[in-house]
Order: sequence, then structure tokens, then C-alpha cells
Amino acid sequence: MKLQFLDTTLRDGEQAPGYSMNLDEKVRMALQLEALGVDAVESGFPAASRLDSDCVRAVAAALRTPAVVGLCRARDADIDRAAEALAAAKRPRIHVFLATSELHLREKLHISRDECLEAIRHAVTYARNRCGDIEFSAEDASRSDPDFLCRAVETAIAAGATTINLPDTVGYATPTEFGAMVADVIRRVPNAGKAVFSVHCHDDLGMAVANTLAGIAAGARQAECTICGIGERAGNAALEEVAMAVATRRDAFPGLSIGIVTQRIAKTARILAEITGHRIPPDKAIVGRNAFAHESGIHQHGVISNALTYQIMRPEDVGINDEEIVLGRHSGRHAFEERLTELGYSLDPDRVGQLFERFKGIAERKKEIRDRDIVALVEASETPRNQAEAWRLASFVVNSGNAMVSTACVTLRKGRRTAREVAMGTGPVYACVRAVEKIVKHPFVLEDYQLSAVTERRDALGEARVLISDGTGTYRGRGVSTDVIEASILACLAGVNAMLGSAQSALGTGAAADAQRSAIK
Ligand code: KIV
Ligand code: ZN
Repeated sequence: MKLQFLDTTLRDGEQAPGYSMNLDEKVRMALQLEALGVDAVESGFPAASRLDSDCVRAVAAALRTPAVVGLCRARDADIDRAAEALAAAKRPRIHVFLATSELHLREKLHISRDECLEAIRHAVTYARNRCGDIEFSAEDASRSDPDFLCRAVETAIAAGATTINLPDTVGYATPTEFGAMVADVIRRVPNAGKAVFSVHCHDDLGMAVANTLAGIAAGARQAECTICGIGERAGNAALEEVAMAVATRRDAFPGLSIGIVTQRIAKTARILAEITGHRIPPDKAIVGRNAFAHESGIHQHGVISNALTYQIMRPEDVGINDEEIVLGRHSGRHAFEERLTELGYSLDPDRVGQLFERFKGIAERKKEIRDRDIVALVEASETPRNQAEAWRLASFVVNSGNAMVSTACVTLRKGRRTAREVAMGTGPVYACVRAVEKIVKHPFVLEDYQLSAVTERRDALGEARVLISDGTGTYRGRGVSTDVIEASILACLAGVNAMLGSAQSALGTGAAADAQRSAIK
């Protein structure tokens, strides 16, 4: 039997502070989730805002295989908004939620149990008349009275719900309790056989994955997760952890199969990190840089004799390749292109050509180019939508020291035009940013700036990430170079190009998604 995955990175994940995504980013992430093999993509809460409903609409138009899910409160207006936003989806699903715990009924909703049952019956019936696939979530299920929870679930199924989700909304349950609750509901609800049971666990006490697995062992056949466990407060259950637990411990989950293409997990996590600007913690299970590193001598010795001594999964099973020295100054375009393919990129020849030029420039200055360098290079060089309108770095000179005001002279190109400006700043990066601002004649504020090394060695590439805003929107940019000032200017320019190009086109049509899909694997 198949265990389905509903990924809610674009809804619950995006609700976490600092993780909001724009429409293009959501479509890009959704296409990667489709490539990863998830069964359903929860893409937003259409009634929450215009942007949310536009994002759900764009994801609905872009995806072919997974169900596209829109979240709603148990209100007619929310359900109408979701149905509209999902109109173009091949497999639309409306997800209605209503709390069932006494605490939520009394303190938040101010309704009685009978009113709650009536609201569920009405909302699910209303939604079912607009969509054939309805999920109902009993919010705060784990703190609900078990008898009432069973009545709520029975009501939802009788009204037409096809999936019943039992969330541990506040991350309060222990695995034993949570598994028992799921088993109890499935056993006691008379019409339980007509729905797929789902679990959705939060990580407030660090038990989201354990609770999800307990729910699966108890009979749930859908797991609601996010990539890297991002989400409200402490986050949700991490998809990669649940998927690899089921795939690795088949003995503990007999008869269960998954559709996740595990070899695409690492790339999916990388794309999320790139979009959100939050790096993957090195010790993050499954996808962290150290997840497969064996530092201690005893472990290394064991792994060399037989990998099974200290390794329960192979890095390649999750798409992490051994960090061998891969390329250098003498590597040709063919070798570079092959490496890109092995890393999961399938890019058009123009883009490969541009990346190869950048690669050559870096290889002149850095002896060994590793996989992580190549990934950083690709991810930091997203093609602006309108190439001719993009500002490019031609050259820069900085003058800086601890006894002077930093100055920068930056030369940029846009098409055939060249522009140069000199600016001063409290440091060399700030001086460069001000010179860029003077050239593009569009004031912006540097909201956030981060600099890090891509690999560990002395000649590591520097990676700069910026967040800029111009009062109407915020834009991210990323740049890599052996020179951290150059990396900073490149990141700033990526942000500036996004800022200046953002009004020109909004991705979200099927055709645009098809173009993007070709770059996703
Ligand atoms: O945590 C929760 O209960 C939710 C529901 C809306 C499914 O996110
Ligand atoms: Zn949640």
C-alpha cells in the first residue's frame, strides 16, 4: 500500500517568519516538489490574501501530477475563493479545517459542539459540491475529546470528505498517545473505510517526525510534511526524514511504499534554501552537510571496512554525491556539462554557456572546483527574465582600510550601455552597493546581508546573500566568487535585477511553467 505525501512547504512552511515566497518562487518550488514525487502540494490559503490566491492559481496551472490543495476555513466565502483559485488544476483538492478541541471551541470559535458538527457538515457539503476531492482537518485533534473527535470525523466523511487529517496542531502529543489516537479514530468511526487518514504534526516538543511515524504505524496513509521541517513556530514534520525513515526501515513499516524519488531530496532542500535564503544546518538529518560525514577515526575505519558499520543510508540515495575533486582549470565544457547533469541540472545550452564562462573565470583563481562550488554557481546565477534589461558587472575597484573612508568605483553594463559611478561607504561592500544604487537610479535599502564560505578550504568561494527593498517589495540576490566583494556586488545586482524586472512578467501560466519545468529534475 502506498503512503502518500502532502507537502505543505508552500502553505504551513511559508507561514514561518522569514520564509515567505513570491509567486515565481512558489511555482519553482512546486515544480521541484512535483519532480520529487509528492502526491499533493498544498500551495496556499486563497482567502488569506490576493497574493495567496494568485499563488494557488499559478501552482494549479503549473502542476500535472500531484493534487493541488487550497486551504480554507469552514466558511462558504473561503471555499469559493479556493474553488476559483484551483479551477485550472488537473487534480484540485479543497482542504477545509475546523478546530474540534474544547479549548478552541470555547475560547476561539465561541461555538458549541453541536454547532461545530453542523459547521463541518455544511462546509464539507458545500466544498464537495465544488470539488470531488475534499480533505477535512480536525484542528487540534490531539487535544480534542476522543468521543467528540470521532463524531466530527464521522460527520465530515458522511458529508463527502475523502481525506481526514488529524493534526497535532500545537506539537503537544507524544508518539505513543498520537499513534493510539489515530488507531482509535480509525477503529471507532463507522464510515472510516471511506476516507484516507492523514497526519499533520508540529515540532514544538521536537516530536513531529516521531508522531508522524507513530500515526503511519497506526494506519494513517497520508503524511503532511514540509521540506526541512519548516513551518509555524518550531515547524512541521520534515518530509525527507519521514520518507527516508519509511524507505530505510521497511521492516518497521511492512507493506508500505512511497512515491518519493529519494535521489531528488538533496536538490529539493537546496532549492528551498536558495529561495528562502535560510541555509541548511550542517547537522540537519538527511540533507545537512555533515549527515554523511564520518569524522572520527574509529568510524572512518569501520566505514572503509564495510560502510554498513556506521552508515544506514547511502548519500547517493538522497542525491548527495561524494565530494570528490571534480573539475579544475583544464576541464572542458563537456566535463562541466556532464557534472551539471550528474548534479541534477538540465539547463538550456545558452545558460550552460554562461555558467561555463563563470566557471572558467573561477577556475583561473581556484584550483579545485567541487560539487558544492558548482551548485552555488548555478543557484547564484538564475537567468533574469529579460536578459537585455539586466545590469551586469563589468569591473570594480575598491579602496579600503581601517584609517580611511572606503570608496568604490563600479562599472556596470546593460545591453550596449556602460555606466560608472564612484561612492563612499563605511565599508567596501556598502560603498559598492551605493555605487550600484547610483547607477541604476532606483533607491533601495539593504535589509539583510550574509556572507559565507561555500566549502571549507582557504580558497573557498565566498557566497553573499542580500535582501533589498524599495518600499514596494523585497528582493533576494545571491552571488558567488573567490572575491567576497565581487560576490557581494553580484548578489546586489541579482537583487536589483529582480527588483527592476519584477513588474514585467509574472510566471504562473502553464507555458511559463513548462519552460521552467525543463530546468527541474
Ligand atoms: O496545524 C494545523 O492544525 C494546521 C491545519 C490547518 C491543518 O495547519
Ligand atoms: Zn499546521
